[in-house]
Amino acid sequence: MAEGGKVFARIARRYDRINTLLSLGQDQNWRRTAVDQLPGGRILDLGGGTGAANDVFVGREVVTLDPAAEMLTLNPIDRRVVGAGEHLPFRDETFDAVFSAYVFRNLDSVSRTLEEIARVLRPGGKAGIVDLGRPEPGWRRSLHRAGTAVVLPTVGTLAGAREEYVYLNRSLDKLPPPEDMLGGSSLALRKTWRMGPLGFVYGAILEKGAGGS
Ligand SMILES: C[S@@+](CC[C@H](N)C(=O)[O-])C[C@H]1O[C@@H](n2cnc3c(N)ncnc32)[C@H](O)[C@@H]1O
Repeated sequence: MAEGGKVFARIARRYDRINTLLSLGQDQNWRRTAVDQLPGGRILDLGGGTGAANDVFVGREVVTLDPAAEMLTLNPIDRRVVGAGEHLPFRDETFDAVFSAYVFRNLDSVSRTLEEIARVLRPGGKAGIVDLGRPEPGWRRSLHRAGTAVVLPTVGTLAGAREEYVYLNRSLDKLPPPEDMLGGSSLALRKTWRMGPLGFVYGAILEKGAGGS
């Protein structure tokens, strides 16, 4: 399992509480902004972990995939699959939508995962991605970087998981801005938006063309 998966296996039982605390209770609203823009039907929750997003999938048929069996064990939904985004164990055109929240920073390969998402989406299907990153360049980014360097290790120490939250802080700088990272795959990047204090959370919608690309 990649480093991201191992970290989440270690903190599985505390994950939801700490996430809600760090986002000041906004994590579910941020997920909802993306899910509300996706088609109904069958949805893949990629990196769905403990099922924190389950409440926003109302009326959909949900399949959750995650490499950390420890996270999946805590997820109450029926269809849970151990696996990674880079190698999705599903047939072509299985899903109407793919959703992924707070996962992309942890992937071994964003480009490989986007191609796998494109493969398992039906033509006209959409993917919604939400993740943490850094605010746009400028004072907001500097302030955010200085703040998380103090806040995240402190929260981690209080939660008995300092190493894991130092990893979270480092992961915020791992990837380029979403517009650069998510453009250029066989999925069309339809929109991106920013949320949260200083705009450190982003959302994105990608679409598979009706012709299949
Ligand atoms: C921060 S948690 C997010 C969980 C959930 N999506 C949520 O909204 O709370 C990140 C999840 O990504 C999973 N993950 C790590 N590497 C992955 C990969 N290569 N493919 C899919 N999921 C991965 C972790 O095991 C973990 O459950």
